Amino acid sequence: MSMNESSSVVHNIQKCHIDTDIPDSYRTRITELLGIRWPLLLGGMMWLSDASLVAAMVRAGGMGFITARSSSTNEQFRYQMQLCHDLSGGLPFGVNLTLSRRMEHNDIMLERLLIAIEEGVRIFETAGLPPTPLMPALRNANAIIIHKCAHVRHAIAAQKLGVDAVTLVGMEEGGHPGSNPLPTFLNGAYALEHLHVPLALGGGIGHGRQIAAALALGADAVVMGSIFTSAQETPAHAAYKQRVVTTDQHGTCTLLSSLGDTWRVINNDNARKVAAMEQAGARRYSEFGDLISGARTNTLAYQKGQVEEGMLSMGPAVGFARAVEPVASIVDRLKQEFMDASTRYRQMFTA
Ligand SMILES: Cc1cc2nc3c(=O)[nH]c(=O)nc-3n(C[C@H](O)[C@H](O)[C@H](O)COP(=O)(O)O)c2cc1C
Repeated sequence: MSMNESSSVVHNIQKCHIDTDIPDSYRTRITELLGIRWPLLLGGMMWLSDASLVAAMVRAGGMGFITARSSSTNEQFRYQMQLCHDLSGGLPFGVNLTLSRRMEHNDIMLERLLIAIEEGVRIFETAGLPPTPLMPALRNANAIIIHKCAHVRHAIAAQKLGVDAVTLVGMEEGGHPGSNPLPTFLNGAYALEHLHVPLALGGGIGHGRQIAAALALGADAVVMGSIFTSAQETPAHAAYKQRVVTTDQHGTCTLLSSLGDTWRVINNDNARKVAAMEQAGARRYSEFGDLISGARTNTLAYQKGQVEEGMLSMGPAVGFARAVEPVASIVDRLKQEFMDASTRYRQMFTA
């Protein structure tokens, strides 16, 4: 790069610090597919993605997914759908259908899918395993299916299966990034060589400049989770949200990789006990007992605020969650950062 070129880049970087006007919407194949204003998806979060959080995301211009597994009964799940219709002012919202590796737990997903369809939901995030057993019901209902996975080969298989869009997550993802060791942007670049359906990228995204980078890469949207765990509307104890906002990007760890079921969580006392057991050779879920129980995490950590207990799914994007604030404020900040980064990028072509 010549001196002139490098000084013009420096000049452009300085120019991008002014706030950029935020337009009403930003169009991609995913915003068109889902009928949303911004290519921002809040992935389903077990126990946390309820009607209030999802409605807040939808009202902010993105898309959210109520986790079908979080309700303990079908009636409670139906109530969540109805509440979300009310809270979102009739805007469309989605449902997350996570299939479990432990197959005996999966019949309930078809039941919940049929209830969601009865309640008018037509947007679904599937995850965990290929959505094959759910496809006939989803297709009958003319539903939009976004399948989330962690391997490029699984994304290609989902495309062949006929899903409408794919979410690909990297190893930075909070929760279950699968056995794939590759980071989000590398995964995305490989996937884009093979996919013709729209792609959402997720894992480690919590700043608007990462959203600009994902769209510049070729993605049609981003999926986030960790950055929203401390939102005001998230149904969790204040002590949990304080734990979130005081955890930086180094405060998460991965567990259970030796069982082929990597789980990325906050590195709390519970995580350290699980790590020690894994290190000592535990290789079956049953050996970890209650320490990896989702119901225990919900009761102790999310409801009672005992944040050193439970598997607190979280990725390093948590470092960008620095205050407890409404979803709308988080989305506004992401949009502003996204516009600033995009402006800087565009200016480099025109200088
Ligand atoms: C607390 C928490 C719970 C999650 N639970 C689920 C889940 O039940 N099903 C699912 O498909 N993904 C789940 N995820 C993953 C999110 O939907 C999303 O893909 C992920 O958070 C994106 O990566 P990020 O956390 O780095 O933003 C969870 C993530 C978090 C942080």
